[in-house]
Amino acid sequence: MSRLLYDESNLPDIDTLVAKNYDNVNPDEVQPIRKIGVLTSGGDAPGMNATIRAVVRAGINAGFEVYGVTRGFHGLWKGEISQITVRDVSETLQRGGTFLMTARSKTFTTKEGVLKGARMMEVYDLDALVVSGGDGSFKGARALARIGMPVIGIPGTIDNDIGCTDYTIGYDTAMNTAMEAIDKLRDTASSHERCSVIEVMGRRAGYIALNVGIATGAECILIPEIEYDFNRDVIRTILDGRNKGKRHYIVIVAEGVGSASDIAKKIEEQTGIESRPTILGHLQRGGSPTLRDRTTASLMGVHAIDCLLEKRYNRLIIEKDGKITDIDIEEGINMKKTIPAEDIENAKRLS
Ligand code: F6P
Repeated sequence: MSRLLYDESNLPDIDTLVAKNYDNVNPDEVQPIRKIGVLTSGGDAPGMNATIRAVVRAGINAGFEVYGVTRGFHGLWKGEISQITVRDVSETLQRGGTFLMTARSKTFTTKEGVLKGARMMEVYDLDALVVSGGDGSFKGARALARIGMPVIGIPGTIDNDIGCTDYTIGYDTAMNTAMEAIDKLRDTASSHERCSVIEVMGRRAGYIALNVGIATGAECILIPEIEYDFNRDVIRTILDGRNKGKRHYIVIVAEGVGSASDIAKKIEEQTGIESRPTILGHLQRGGSPTLRDRTTASLMGVHAIDCLLEKRYNRLIIEKDGKITDIDIEEGINMKKTIPAEDIENAKRLS
């Protein structure tokens, strides 16, 4: 029997629907799960392999058959689906990237694309799908949930910008990678008495920039969440530093603020201090995941399987106050988070 609530003939606009919330539903009346799919979607993040491994191992241990979907939602609607065994995920825990590969699927942002994906889940007899990715991926998962396919989302993005969770898998590794690169840039900035302007990723969020800026002792940290005055917060800070004897300067720019090249040019023009821009770019997305990312990914994967076993579908797995838990997908997606102003103030007190 099809789990789908709609087909081509009566498919409404998915934006007007709400996914079923299983919180108060009697579990005896809910169809159990036997076969699940797992995919990674959006920008890759270190720890995604650990997530897949956990879903596969805990899933098989729970009695499920687990299927890997390659290339995210793109591979789902194209039917790139095959069974994964416990052995298939050996030697993946410590590897960066995602062995299932990932994509940003335009088709899946349309209701017809979502229906195609759901239909392909039926072709492969998948009762539920576990999706690892960021907010765009969660929207794809929610669309499937809204037309009747049970889903579980696991936050995987270096940006840490998902409102409902304190932590997203990949964030710690990306920050450590950026920190190590900036330490190296500091050496050369110091030798040449230069200002090094470093652009870090984060899309519209400044979490990476703020913490990496604190960890590398940056003079200025520019993030989209906090308005800044270029003369006061950048030029004056650098000149005050020079007047106190500083010989090199680190400026961290979150990509959501603007371009490191433009900022470096303006600093050089206004201070006369030689300035060089560096865009760390995709370097921050690669590499072997840190302990933090491996353990969080593994425990979130296990928690996803617990939700499926307990017939609590359409959940996002989150970390709250140091504990791994879950939240309804509709509720979780709508939550926002921002950087507290005092965190910025504290960073300034260290410069
Ligand atoms: O969301 C992760 C992220 O790395 C962002 O920090 C960045 O803005 C974006 O993805 C880059 O995307 P792409 O890999 O498509 O260039």
